[in-house]
Amino acid sequence: MKRFTYIIKRSEVEGVLSMPDYVGIIEEAFRLTGRGGVEMPPKIYLSFPRGDLRCMPAYIPSLNIAGMKNVNVHPGNKDLPAVMGTISLFDPETGYPLAIIDGTHITNMRTGAAGGVAVKYLAREDARTAAFIGAGTQARSQLAAILSVRPRLSRVAVFDLDGEKAGDYATWANKKFKVEAVQAESVSAAVKGADIIVTTTPSRGPVLFSGDVRDGVHINAVGADAKGKQELDPEILKRARVVIDNREQASKSGEINVPLSRGIIRTEDIHGTIGEILTGQKPGRQSPGEITVFDSTGLAIQDVTSALEIYKRLLADPEREKKLEKIDFLS
Ligand SMILES: NC(=O)c1ccc[n+]([C@@H]2O[C@H](COP(=O)([O-])OP(=O)(O)OC[C@H]3O[C@@H](n4cnc5c(N)ncnc54)[C@H](O)[C@@H]3O)[C@@H](O)[C@H]2O)c1
Repeated sequence: MKRFTYIIKRSEVEGVLSMPDYVGIIEEAFRLTGRGGVEMPPKIYLSFPRGDLRCMPAYIPSLNIAGMKNVNVHPGNKDLPAVMGTISLFDPETGYPLAIIDGTHITNMRTGAAGGVAVKYLAREDARTAAFIGAGTQARSQLAAILSVRPRLSRVAVFDLDGEKAGDYATWANKKFKVEAVQAESVSAAVKGADIIVTTTPSRGPVLFSGDVRDGVHINAVGADAKGKQELDPEILKRARVVIDNREQASKSGEINVPLSRGIIRTEDIHGTIGEILTGQKPGRQSPGEITVFDSTGLAIQDVTSALEIYKRLLADPEREKKLEKIDFLS
C-alpha cells in the first residue's frame, strides 16, 4: 500500500484555525497534561553562538498521535522571525511520518492561546487594561488570545526597548482590535493601572519589578523559555500564586529557573500546573486582590494537538487536500 507524508506550508496552515479554536485546543491539551498519560519529556536544546534549536516530542495515546517540533530561537534575527519551526506528526502504530507541517505560525498561535487560557482561569473577570513588555511576534498573538477570553478589555499599553516596534504594535492593536493602545516610555509607565501584564522579551534579567506591580494583577511570563532567561523580579514570584505549564520544563527553563537555582524560591512555592487547575486538582485565583503568574515555557503537546487538528481539517476538505504536496518517503 502506498503511503504519503503531507508537506504543509505556512500559507496552508494559516487560516485553518481561528484564535478561539487554538484557545480551545490548548485548553484541552493542558487538561490532558493534568489527567496524565501523556509522554512528553522536557525539550532538549542545542546552543549556537547567537541562538538555539530545541527538540520537543510528545506522544498522546488518547488521540493516537505522536509528534515532534524542532524550533529555534534567534533574538534579533535580521530579516527572519526570531522563532521558526517544523512539526512532524507520526502514526504511533507504525511510526510512519504522516506530515511535516510549518511550525512557525502554530508556535505563535499556540503560545498566544496558552496565555489566553491562563488569563481565562487566573485573571480577574473584570480585567479591562493590559500592558505588554516586548512588542514582537508573541506579544501580538497574546493580545489576540486575551481578547478572545476577556472581550471587554479596552486599553493596551506597550513598552519595547525598540521604540519603533512599540509604536507599530500600538498602531496595529488599535487598528486590528479597536482598543485604545498607547506606547509607554518605560516599563513602569506601561504597567501602571494594568490588570494583566504580558512579558515577551528574550531578557536574561528582570525587566518587571515588584514595586510596579499592583495587587490583583495577572501576569503571563512568556519570554523565559531557556536556562538563564528571566523577566520578573523574583519578589513578584514571592508575592504571587505561581502557576507553571510543566514542572520539569519550567524548573529548567521557565521564569522560575533562575530564582530556583539561586534558592530565592523553592519548588514548594509553586502553586501547581495549569493542567492541575483545569482538572480541578488545584484551585485557580482565590481572591480579587492576589497576584497570579503564569510561567509559560511552551509544551510539545500544544504543538502536536494544534498540528493534528490542522492536518485533520485539511485532509477532510477534498479541495484543499488535493492541493497539498505529498511525498512517498519509502519510494
Ligand atoms: N513560552 C513560550 O511558549 C514561548 C514561545 C515562543 C517564544 N517564546 C519566547 O518569547 C520571547 C519573544 O519571542 P518573539 O517571537 O516575540 O520575539 P521577537 O524578537 O519578535 O520580540 C521580542 C521583543 O522584545 C524586545 N525586547 C528585548 N529586550 C527587551 C527588554 N529588556 N525590554 C523590553 N523589550 C525588549 C525586542 O525589541 C523585541 O521587539 C523569546 O524569548 C522567545 O524565546 C516563548
